[in-house]
Amino acid sequence: MSTNTDAIAAHGGKLINRIASPEQRQEFIAAGDRLPRIQLDDRTTCDLITIAIGALSPLEGFMGQADYNRVVEEMRLANGLPWSIPVTLSVSEETAQSLKEGSQVRLDDPQGKFIGILELTQKYTYDKARESVQVYRTEETKHPGVKAVYDQGAVNLAGPVWLLDREDHALFPKYQIDPAESRAMFREKGWQTIVGFQTRNPIHRAHEYIQKCALEVVDGLFLHPLVGTTKSDDIPAEVRMRCYEIMLENYFPQDRVILAINPSAMRYAGPREAIFHALVRKNYGCTHFIVGRDHAGVGDYYGTYDAQKIFEEFKDGELGIVPMKFEHAFYCKKTDQMATSKTSPSKKEDRIHLSGTKVREMLRRGESPPPQFSRPEVAAELVKAMQVKS
Ligand code: ADX
Repeated sequence: MSTNTDAIAAHGGKLINRIASPEQRQEFIAAGDRLPRIQLDDRTTCDLITIAIGALSPLEGFMGQADYNRVVEEMRLANGLPWSIPVTLSVSEETAQSLKEGSQVRLDDPQGKFIGILELTQKYTYDKARESVQVYRTEETKHPGVKAVYDQGAVNLAGPVWLLDREDHALFPKYQIDPAESRAMFREKGWQTIVGFQTRNPIHRAHEYIQKCALEVVDGLFLHPLVGTTKSDDIPAEVRMRCYEIMLENYFPQDRVILAINPSAMRYAGPREAIFHALVRKNYGCTHFIVGRDHAGVGDYYGTYDAQKIFEEFKDGELGIVPMKFEHAFYCKKTDQMATSKTSPSKKEDRIHLSGTKVREMLRRGESPPPQFSRPEVAAELVKAMQVKS
């Protein structure tokens, strides 16, 4: 059944577009050399892009103090709308002093290329310890998200942004599907219920299992691997994307799945990031979102199901996207299939599951993960990629 309306509205009601029009772009470029300039790091570059394409609707720019404070304390924007992660642009006190509120600031990417404009509305200091404890539930700088906070400047710059140009992704142009486009694709396919899947790891059979369980009850699956900044020991996005292509060719009905890249940076904020990830997928047009074990977690900072429990802190319908929660999935030797403790009578010794760290260690030794953990074609791709790397 085909329909003209989206299955779901963007967060806050309107899909934001902050990509400069050709005329604006010309104006910005003409002014570029005269404007004060800030060099963004990898993460804030990802943030600028995700804001511009509407993935972070209703945000039109980097957060001001009222939004920031309420997000940190209460997981809400100043207007009360749910939001769990601060999206901020921090600079040193010295840089902040040189910039005037009410003026335009040129934003360069880490390579020094002029990519955006900030309409600076506010400068404010913030408490790094408070942000770390509230958002990441720890102050330890071993946590990559907390480290990023402590590495930042002391002053946040706020204001609406413009992205000069939406360029094709250097590696995955075919999979660069922005929110307006994914919404159009869902409409065209007549999908009324779409489940989004966040991932930063190579696809394994537990991923496949929960994706397919979800696909049994919704119209379509939006596979949305994150390709923005990740920590250095995560498997590179090129390898992960190849694994997804292999899976789609061999193990999925192609007409029920859309593979697209998510240009966001990882924060590793566990529960808070699960809410953020869900809202981002809502902006892409998803009605449902998969949250499995230790979603967006790192180390032992979060309980296995904390990222599911946090959804209970919001009233029904408030987030506007439905979490599909899955227990820890594994291969069950007793029943000879993928399962969770909800569907299998197995004991611990009957279960095959490998942690991401364990898999990376195996791959470094040139060993292939077993077929109960990884589809053989994917395992072969991972082994090959690791050999090339070393
Ligand atoms: S994440 O940082 O993006 O969450 P990952 O790519 O490993 O990491 O996970 C993607 C999604 O699959 C998350 O929702 C995660 O909770 C879920 N997941 C990963 N492994 C399992 C598993 N064995 N059982 C259930 N859910 C899982």
